[in-house]
Amino acid sequence: MEQAVLEVQQRVAELRQLLQRASYAYYVLDNPDMPDAVYDQLYRELQDLEAQYPQLITPDSPTQRVGERPATQFTSVRHNVPLYSLENAFNLAEFASWQDRWRRVAPGVSEFEYVCELKIDGNALALTYENGVLTRGATRGDGVMGEDITPNVRTIRAIPLRLNLDHPPPRVEIRGEAFLPLEVFQYINQEREQAGDALFANPRNAAAGTLRQLDSRIVARRRLDFFAYTLHVPNTEGSDATPPLQLETQWNALETLQSMGFRVNPMRQLCRSLFEVEEYYNRWATERLELPYLTDGVVVKLNSLALQEQLGFTQKFPRWAIALKYPAEEAPTVVENISVNVGRTGAVTPTADLRPVQLAGTTVSRATLHNGDRIAELDIRIGDTVIVRKAGEIIPEVVRVLPDLRPANTTPYQLPTHCPECEQPLVRPEGEAVTRCINTSCPAILRRSILHWVGRDAMDINGLGEKWVQQFTDRGLVHTVADLYELTPEQLMTVDRMGKKSAQNLVEAIEQSQGQPWARVLYGLGIRHVGSVNAQLLADQFSTVETLAQAQPDDIAQVNGIGAEIAQSVYQWFQVPANQRLIERLRAAGVQLAGESKANQPQGNQPLAGKTFVLTGTLPTLKRDEAKAMIEQAGGKVTGSVSKKTNYVVVGAEAGSKLEKAEELGITLLSEADFLELIASS
Ligand code: IVH
Repeated sequence: MEQAVLEVQQRVAELRQLLQRASYAYYVLDNPDMPDAVYDQLYRELQDLEAQYPQLITPDSPTQRVGERPATQFTSVRHNVPLYSLENAFNLAEFASWQDRWRRVAPGVSEFEYVCELKIDGNALALTYENGVLTRGATRGDGVMGEDITPNVRTIRAIPLRLNLDHPPPRVEIRGEAFLPLEVFQYINQEREQAGDALFANPRNAAAGTLRQLDSRIVARRRLDFFAYTLHVPNTEGSDATPPLQLETQWNALETLQSMGFRVNPMRQLCRSLFEVEEYYNRWATERLELPYLTDGVVVKLNSLALQEQLGFTQKFPRWAIALKYPAEEAPTVVENISVNVGRTGAVTPTADLRPVQLAGTTVSRATLHNGDRIAELDIRIGDTVIVRKAGEIIPEVVRVLPDLRPANTTPYQLPTHCPECEQPLVRPEGEAVTRCINTSCPAILRRSILHWVGRDAMDINGLGEKWVQQFTDRGLVHTVADLYELTPEQLMTVDRMGKKSAQNLVEAIEQSQGQPWARVLYGLGIRHVGSVNAQLLADQFSTVETLAQAQPDDIAQVNGIGAEIAQSVYQWFQVPANQRLIERLRAAGVQLAGESKANQPQGNQPLAGKTFVLTGTLPTLKRDEAKAMIEQAGGKVTGSVSKKTNYVVVGAEAGSKLEKAEELGITLLSEADFLELIASS
C-alpha cells in the first residue's frame, strides 16, 4: 500500500513537471514542443490521480489554476518593497539630461550599459514566491498598498505557479506587467457590445477591470498575459540552505526570470550609448504598432545592479531608470455635432460627429463621448476644437477640449431629457453612469432588438438589414421578433421597393432560421450580459428554456463562467410577463427552445439514487451545503460518518479521520473536481 502511494506520488511529480515544461514552451517561449492531444492526455492522467489521491493535490499543480469561488472583496496588502513609478522623458533631449543627472550623482562611472525594454501598457503586478511556490499576487495600488488578487493571478498562464528552480530562495518577489493582447481586448468588447454592456475604452482599462473581477472563472476566460521585468530577492543572509541567485545585471535578471518560468519580453536590447538608445527608440516607434499588444514607450534601465543600488531612488522614481515615451496618437479637430444613439438595451450613447482627421493611419470622423458625465467633466460643446486619440485598435475618443479655440456663444451640452425616437422621458438609474430609454415599445429599441435577433451570431437571417427592419417597424408589421415568423410575402410586398422574389426569399430565410440551435436563440433574445459565449455556456447546462426559466439565480451562477450579475439578469428577464409571452409565441412559431444538454442530465432522473456520500475537509470552491444540495438533488444521500455502506467520500483540504477511515475501508475518494464531474456526467 505504502509502496503504491509512493509510486503514485512519483508519477504525479513527473506529470506536473512534464506539463509545466510543456506550458513553459508554449506560453513563455512561444515554441510549443508537445502536441495538444498529448498535453490533454497527461493533464487528464494527473487529474485522475489527484482525484484518487486528493491528499497529493498541491496549490502549484497545473490542475489548480482556476475554480476559486467568487470573492466578496479583495483585501488590501502592504508591499514588502514599494512599487516605484518611472520618470518620463518625451524626447531624446530629455533623456540626455536625465543621463547627465545620474552621471553627476555617480561621478566615477566611465563605462556603463543600458537595457532597453518596451514599456508595456498594462497593469503592474507584484508576485511573491515562497520556497518556489506562488503565494501572493497583488496589484500595484498606490505603490505602497495594493490589493491581493491571488486567485486571478493564478489564472494567467504566463505566470508559473511554481518556479523552475532546483533550490528556490525562501522568498522572492517578481514584478511585471499584466496586459490584454489586442485580439482578446477586441473579442471582449465584441462580447460586451453583443451583451449590451458598456465597452472598455482601451486594453489597459479592460485588464484592470479583469484583474479586479471577483470571479476568477471569468478572469480565466479573458486570457490575460504577463511580461516579467524585475526580480527582488530579500537579503538571504543566514539561510545557508539555498545558494543565492547570482545576479549582477538587469540583463541577467531578465534571463533568470525567463529560466524561472516567466514570459519576458523578447524585444529587449543592450545599448552602450545615447546613440544606440536613440536607434532603439526610433525603431520601435513604428514597429511597436505591429505588435499584438500595446506599448507606450521604452524603459531604459542601467544594466549594472551595483550601480542601480548606488543611485537609489528619489521620492517617487528610481534614479537608474527612465521611461522614454512615444507621443500618443492624438490630433485636434472640431466637434461638428453631438448625436445620441439608443441601443438595444435602451442605453443612450452620445457620439461626437467630427470634422474628419487622419489618426494612426485611418480617417476618424466620429468619437465616442461615453456618457453625459464624461461630456460634463470635459465640458465638450458643439463647435469646440478637441483632441481626439486613437491607439492601435481602440475606438477613438475625445481626450480634452482646447478652450482657447472655443467659439463665442457656445453653451454647455446637455443630454436630451427625452428619447430622440419615442419622445418618452429618459431615466438615469441612481449610481449608474448610463442614461436609458425605458419605454419597452420604443421603436429604436425594437429595431435594435430585431437586428440583434437576425444578426450573424444569432438567427443569421440573410437579407434583413437595417432599412427593411425600419420599414417593418414603421408600418407596424413587426412589434416583437415573434412577428417575423408570421409575415407573408403579400404583406412584405406592401413595403417600398420590395419585389415578389425578394419577399418570398425573405419569408423563406425567416422560416429557415427556425432550425437555429437553442444557444443562438438564447443569445438572440438579447438578455443583458448574455453574449454568444455566455449563451452557449447556459445552453450547455440548461437544455430547455423551461429549466432555465425556472432556475433560481444561484442555480444559474453554478454554471462555470457565469457570474452572479449575469445570473441575476437572466433570472429577471424570465420574470417579465411580456418576455414569457414572447417565449410562448416563439414556441408556437417553431423556433428551437431546447437542445442537447452537455450536462447530459435527463430531467427528473435521480442518477445518484441509493448512493451514500460523506463530505470531509474544506473543498476549494463548494460550500458543504452546496455539495450536499447537489447530491440530494441527484437522488443521493449525505451522512456524517464513514462506514462500509458509504459509496463515496468527497475529500477537501485538511481532511482528518474520515479520510483515514475511508482509506482503511477502501472507499472511493473524490476531489471536488471529480465530484463535479460525477454529478455532471451521471
Ligand atoms: S520597471 C522601479 N519595466 O510602467 C522600476 N516598468 O510608468 C519600475 N511598465 O509602474 C518599473 N513596462 O507598470 C518597468 N519594461 C518595464 C515596464 C514597466 C511597463 C510600467 C510599470 C510601471 C509604469 C511606470
